[in-house]
Amino acid sequence: MTQPKPSRRAAVAPFMAMDVLRESRRLERAGRHIVHMELGEPGAPAPLRIREAAAAALHEGSLGYGEAAGELALRTRIARHYGAHYGVEVAPDRIIVATGSSGAFLLAFLAAFDAGARIGVVMPGYPAYLNILEALGLIPAPIAVGEETRFAPTAELIEAAHRKAPLDGLLLMSPSNPTGAMIAPQELEKICAFCGDAGVTLISDEIYHRLEYEGRAETALRFSNAAIVVNSFSKYYAMTGWRLGWAVAPESLARPMERLQQSLAICAPTLAQRAAFAAFDAAEELEAIKKGYARNRALLLQRLPPMGLERFAPPDGAFYIYADVSHLTDDSARFCAAMLEEAGVATTPGIDFDRARGKAALRFSYAGSEAEVALGLERLGAWLSRRA
Ligand SMILES: Cc1ncc(COP(=O)(O)O)c(C=O)c1O
Repeated sequence: MTQPKPSRRAAVAPFMAMDVLRESRRLERAGRHIVHMELGEPGAPAPLRIREAAAAALHEGSLGYGEAAGELALRTRIARHYGAHYGVEVAPDRIIVATGSSGAFLLAFLAAFDAGARIGVVMPGYPAYLNILEALGLIPAPIAVGEETRFAPTAELIEAAHRKAPLDGLLLMSPSNPTGAMIAPQELEKICAFCGDAGVTLISDEIYHRLEYEGRAETALRFSNAAIVVNSFSKYYAMTGWRLGWAVAPESLARPMERLQQSLAICAPTLAQRAAFAAFDAAEELEAIKKGYARNRALLLQRLPPMGLERFAPPDGAFYIYADVSHLTDDSARFCAAMLEEAGVATTPGIDFDRARGKAALRFSYAGSEAEVALGLERLGAWLSRRA
């Protein structure tokens, strides 16, 4: 039979970190030991408290469909978190619980933009942004950041992009994947003010909040009641596979996002929602996991420069280091493949995050165990000196 032709919107680029993972799993099946520094996910399982809450929910038995916007108890708990952590008041009916922040992005983009809208996206940035926008018929407008602004977008850069070709929306994240760089609160305030004045809908991806090592990330909700804030239980709360995140919508978009959710997913997984309720009370375990990341980060900052890897974006938060490898290669994909094959260390090539300039960069994730990161550094050092 003739096979159906894939649609033009399905022609999204591969997510290279996932391709690297596929290759490292192939090597593992062939008996090799691989150090995983390619994955942006916590090596630790979700805290016990969260898993116990899931077990209790399983025993109770009734795990049917829930309200499309999320269980009221969880939305109320998330709203309380904004008060306690940021001192910002948020009404629970502005919160939409979704299938990861990925699900929240779909709802936000569909609710806020018509096909053909231009959305500013910071480069280097999270690869799925471009893929989701393109699949939805939206037009990503890359805004390049670099050393001059500590790899963070500024109001000036955004205004310049808007002057060149008007933006309908702007997608920001802080701390950033892949760089770890954070937007200073004063700059975020300026950006929010600009977006408000210019009628640009701001989407603030705050998924790496609470994973800060230098300074503190501020929520866009402090400066704007028109921004869509997206967050997730995946990173700080170590619940990647539970597929749970949320959006805080402006009043005008809460109901449209709820309506979209009714038809796109019906609701986020009920079991994960019951478990996540306990996440905000798991501070002790979560902070212990974070301390492990902080030790990994300190080790990388100490050990990478003597290996010649001394130019990287300021790793303020998240669990990544984005290093310049231009003195070693102009093809980061080949470089990462050789490192994986010859040293048994998996990392992600920069082109995943920056199609234009990422050929000279790679991303290390330090979300794994301390033993694994230490072993990865040992292997990397030996491999680089063999190549020298
Ligand atoms: C910046 C950023 N946003 C969103 C996501 C998606 O996360 P999830 O759908 O698990 O919430 C990721 C995952 O790596 C990410 O790095």
